[in-house]
Amino acid sequence: MARVVVTNRIPASGLELLREQHEVIAWEQEQPPSREQVLAAVAGADAIVTLLTDRVDGELLDAAGDQLLVVANVAVGYDNLDVAACESRGVVATNTPGVLTDTTADTAFGLMLMATRRFGEAEREVRSGEPWRWGMFYLLGTSLQGKTLGIIGPGLIGIATARRARAFGMEIVYSGRSPMDPAAEAELSATRLATEELLARADVVSVHCPLVPQGRPDSTYHLIDAAALAAMKPTAYLVNTSRGPVVDEASLAAALRDGTIAGAGLDVYEDEPTIHPDLFDLENVVLLPHLGSATHETRSAMADLAARNALAVLSGQEALSPVTR
Ligand code: DGY
Repeated sequence: MARVVVTNRIPASGLELLREQHEVIAWEQEQPPSREQVLAAVAGADAIVTLLTDRVDGELLDAAGDQLLVVANVAVGYDNLDVAACESRGVVATNTPGVLTDTTADTAFGLMLMATRRFGEAEREVRSGEPWRWGMFYLLGTSLQGKTLGIIGPGLIGIATARRARAFGMEIVYSGRSPMDPAAEAELSATRLATEELLARADVVSVHCPLVPQGRPDSTYHLIDAAALAAMKPTAYLVNTSRGPVVDEASLAAALRDGTIAGAGLDVYEDEPTIHPDLFDLENVVLLPHLGSATHETRSAMADLAARNALAVLSGQEALSPVTR
C-alpha cells in the first residue's frame, strides 16, 4: 500500500478511487493549508495530488522525499509545477486535459457575451436600486454575429470556444505555435494568422495558450502587453481564461481606461487572488474569480483523472496524461 497525500479538498469520487487501493492522507478543512502545512504533510508520500494553487518546486519535492513517484495536478494548466525539478528527481508529473474543455469554453464564451453585451454593468445597475427604464439607446452592446473571433492557442479549449462562436455566427482566426487539428480547422473554417495580424483583425481576442515562463524562447508571459493591446481595434474585446500572467494586467487596465480597446472579460489574474486595483474602477471589464472549470461534474472528472494518473504510476504503468517540459 502506497501513501498518497492530497494537499487540498477534492471531490469525493477522486478520493474514493485512491482509498480503494492506498493509504490516503487528505486535507479536509475548508480553509486551504498554508505552505508550511503542505510541506509537512507531503513528507513520506509516494504520490501527491495537488491543485493549481500549490507551488510544486524542488523544496516541496525534497520535503516529500526520494520515494516520491508522482505528482498529479488537478488542473490542465501546470505552470505551478516545476517539471524540470520533477524530471530530475524521477518524479512523473501529470495534469487533467480533456475533462474540463467544454466547461472552460463555456466560461470563455460567457465572458465574451457578458463583456460585449454589458451584462455585468447592466446587472450592477439594476441592483443599485437606481430607477431604470427601457430606452432605444440604453446600455447598447456589440453583436457577435458576423464578427471575427481570434483564438490565441488553438488547443482543445480554444477549439471548443471557437465552436461556440461559430454557432453564434462568428468567423474564426487563430494563432499558435502549432496549427490547429486539421479536422477542427476545416469544421470551423478557421484561418491561421500571425499573432500581430490576428490582433489587428479580431473583434474578440480569446486567450487559450498555456503560461510559459519568462526566459524561455516560447515564453507567453505578457504576450498581451501594451503593444499587443495597441494593435487591437478600439472596438475589440479581450477574454482571458488561460493564466493571468499571459496578459500584462496594468497595461490592460490602462487600455480599458483610455479606450485603446472596448472591453474585456477576465477569469484569471497575474497574482491571484489579488486583482489590479484599477480594474475595479472600470465598467468595461467583467471580473470572475477563476471559475473556468467550476462545475460539480467537471471538478469530479478532474479529481478522478488525477487519481487515475496517480494510481497508474503507483502500479508501475504509464500515466494517462503526463506532462513534459
Ligand atoms: C485549469 O485546470 O488549469 C483551470 O485553470 C482550472 O480552472
